Amino acid sequence: MFPERIFIIGYMCSGKSSISRKLASRLGYNSFDTDDLFEEKYHVSVNDFFEKYGEDYFRKFEAEILRKTGDLRKVVISTGGGNPCYYDNMKWMKDNGMTVFIKVSPTTAYNRLVTAKRKRPLVNGKTSEELMRYIETHYGSRLPYYEQAELTVKGENFNIEKLLEILDA
Ligand code: S3P
Repeated sequence: MFPERIFIIGYMCSGKSSISRKLASRLGYNSFDTDDLFEEKYHVSVNDFFEKYGEDYFRKFEAEILRKTGDLRKVVISTGGGNPCYYDNMKWMKDNGMTVFIKVSPTTAYNRLVTAKRKRPLVNGKTSEELMRYIETHYGSRLPYYEQAELTVKGENFNIEKLLEILDA
């Protein structure tokens, strides 16, 4: 029996959204992304919201959006990289579904983020060197949250069959 609500967590650019979609399609579940739900609800991009209202408000609304997913069944929910680290969100996810941490190395995160930073307010505008240093400390500070997940899978060379096997075990 697969859990009826699966939360995919991990750092920016770890591949959460694409893994969530793949997993959902194999399970016959729907997939959602908390950033997309946020943008649909508030009619503003996460980037613009950060710029106008700041991170603290984003975290507050992000936590509310997450809790609304408690109404959904048979879903895979991809969460923004900071989601598990605020407002007891990690505990809430663990109480309301299965949590899967997609773990990539800081180097992988860097290599991916360096070309995808524009859409991400926390790293947008950083030089390559600043980005490298930021990831080293920032990712490290988030690991204690991510590592509370029930399951950890490697994001590099991700294999959906393997994940399905583990989930089915
Ligand atoms: C964030 C990650 C982003 C988005 C926002 C903040 C973070 O989502 O929620 O820019 O704090 O790590 P992705 O993890 O999908 O990039």
